Amino acid sequence: MKQLIKTFSACLLSVALFSCNQADKGIDNRTENSIESLLSQMTLEEKIGQMNQISSFGNLEEMGKQIKKGEIGSILNEVEASRVNALQRVAVEESRLGIPLLIARDVIHGFKTIFPIPLGQAATFNPQIAEDGARVAAIEASSVGIRWTFAPMIDISRDPRWGRIAESCGEDTYLTSVMGAAMVKGFQGDSLNHPASLAACAKHFVAYGASEGGRDYNSTNIPERQLRNVYLPPFEAAARQGAATFMTSFNDNDGVPSTGNKFILKDVLRDEWGFDGIVVSDWASVGEMISHGFAKDAAEAAMKATNAGVDMDMVSNAYLTSLKQLIENGKVSQSTIDNAVRHILRIKFRLGLFDNPYVKENQPSVFYTPDHLAKAKEAALQSVILLKNDNKTLPLKENIKTIAVVGPMADAPHDQLGTWIFDGEKAHTQTPLMALREHYGNRVRIIYEPGLTYSRDKSPAGIARAVNAARGADAILAFIGEEAILSGEAHSLAEINLQGAQAELISALSKTGKPLVTTIMAGRQLAIQETVKQSSALLYAFHPGTMGGPAIADLLFGEAVPSGKTPVTFPKITGQIPLFYSHNNTGRPPHATQTPLDSIPLEAGQTSAGAFSSYMDVDHRPLFPFGYGLSYTTFEYSNLQLSSTDVKKEDVITITFNLKNTGEYEATEVAQLYVQDIYASVTRPVKELKRFQRFTLKPGESKNVSFNLPVQELAFWNIDMKKVVEPGDFNLWVGTDSGQGLSSGFKVTD
Ligand code: NOJ
Repeated sequence: MKQLIKTFSACLLSVALFSCNQADKGIDNRTENSIESLLSQMTLEEKIGQMNQISSFGNLEEMGKQIKKGEIGSILNEVEASRVNALQRVAVEESRLGIPLLIARDVIHGFKTIFPIPLGQAATFNPQIAEDGARVAAIEASSVGIRWTFAPMIDISRDPRWGRIAESCGEDTYLTSVMGAAMVKGFQGDSLNHPASLAACAKHFVAYGASEGGRDYNSTNIPERQLRNVYLPPFEAAARQGAATFMTSFNDNDGVPSTGNKFILKDVLRDEWGFDGIVVSDWASVGEMISHGFAKDAAEAAMKATNAGVDMDMVSNAYLTSLKQLIENGKVSQSTIDNAVRHILRIKFRLGLFDNPYVKENQPSVFYTPDHLAKAKEAALQSVILLKNDNKTLPLKENIKTIAVVGPMADAPHDQLGTWIFDGEKAHTQTPLMALREHYGNRVRIIYEPGLTYSRDKSPAGIARAVNAARGADAILAFIGEEAILSGEAHSLAEINLQGAQAELISALSKTGKPLVTTIMAGRQLAIQETVKQSSALLYAFHPGTMGGPAIADLLFGEAVPSGKTPVTFPKITGQIPLFYSHNNTGRPPHATQTPLDSIPLEAGQTSAGAFSSYMDVDHRPLFPFGYGLSYTTFEYSNLQLSSTDVKKEDVITITFNLKNTGEYEATEVAQLYVQDIYASVTRPVKELKRFQRFTLKPGESKNVSFNLPVQELAFWNIDMKKVVEPGDFNLWVGTDSGQGLSSGFKVTD
């Protein structure tokens, strides 16, 4: 009988497989039929097993025993083809129904070839870069049998104290939506069924980036309207792009942990967006609902998670130990379990795992291929932001014959890779020092004196040596920033200043009077007001990955021109956080000429210094606004025109303007379009990004640019919690960043 079931299911499965190769909906129905047939043969234990994900504990034999019993649906953290195949063989050939395993791994910004951290990729404002990065990661990771990655991370992140901002696309809803969808596309390729495709995972659902105080795992308190207007859209975009899976977040929002939140997991994700893939918990977040104080024990946690819509329990073991009894007691229904298993089997079918469960071993390596390295370098090039360039210090000119290379990040092959590097190898990293020596060593003499050995190094001894080296050079290239370990999960900071004695190092170097070019490599925007003042030029590179060195060297020497833009607002000091451009207005907006703290007279009258929404001890403005980034050339925007200034809700506005390269270098500008709904049933942001595009122009070249904006894209969740375009007046800007631009306006009528 057992053999009969196996043969029958194998036939069914191959029919289903065939169906997975077809995009056609009719054929997809056959997959659904196959899922139903398989489901009908499964015991309750086997269903619960599919809902259980373990992290590899190394011992193949022990894991094999569990797999054979049908107790495991997915394994994370196996990264060798032969081991993956060994485990898969037990699942497919020795378990009763032969259901393949889903092998998962955090492949976040590269598997072996490491791209800039996602925050850096966002700084390119180039979805093609994000797509390419994800594709390269998918090709490399799938070559060892990984078919599921836990990316993209699309949490709106407005607090750089939060270490996980590094993994995000920054503060903006629209930018994150575009970049996140591009990553989904890259990971999943043209078809999930292809052996080099990874199932993507939109995470962390939802609002995790709003952790109070920027402290990781902390509570969030985001009301529904803000959730819908700011935090949910990137997830909706990922779902529409076809993201196969979603992951819940660690935070409780307004008292409800995401892993037990039926509203977001069912009402929004399934019912509103029609998502039919897998929802997985975050690591142990089912069990952690006990610490949250939301479940009294593992059984209650399992009950709340399954009933809320979490299909798979990542490592907390609560489903495996409790679900059977919960069903017998009627606390969880059979149909809830069946639905969860349907979602899991569906993705396994779509990935083609039933047909092709094994990965080819002993294939030529696809790691670090020239193509992958070239793509990683291009991503790094486009991600670097020029924040300052006094007296055209950059690119370095012919008269610079000797450079002093200093700072702890000049030659930090591990740290420039950034967070979430499980598989990247520092032996393959090309650091700025290496690249300068290799590619520019025949053009300039290089003196290397790091000054500090790592970013938290506080010892002053090396600073004097670095200053000495600087004195003997024509220009100083200082590389500072953050070690990889200072950002990422569970690595939040209460102060975002430069660590160790790095500020002192820059200060001492600036006193030499030599041109000081500072390059910062970090996992977040740092508070660098003084460092900016003291530097002649400053490049900001969010940890740029394997090829960061050659990219930065080319930018320094003008082989390439910077084009990155800030995907986050840079505060002057930590106390300004949260500081983001698309905030709502207050009734008393800050005043341009507020009274500085030190000029308030003694015993001044309570209202004598005005009553505006500002701080007394720091200007309300950022150090650098969102979307900011200079070039070696200059761009001029002119002749802004709208196809109509009186539009209906179903219209499309065409916004045209002229963009001219008025400088001396061929370069790329990211043109940005912002809109403000001036007056509405609820207060609306002072500006919101609606379009952006990169344009490359030769010196003197100009281009007529046009953006099409459907008026429907101005819809928002209003006072009645409906997504509508409200009629009224709108402001519009086009320009080089969120802080300036040509402006116009239009009226929307019913
Ligand atoms: C916890 C993290 O929050 C999540 O992003 C990651 O994917 C899982 N661990 C799995 O490693």
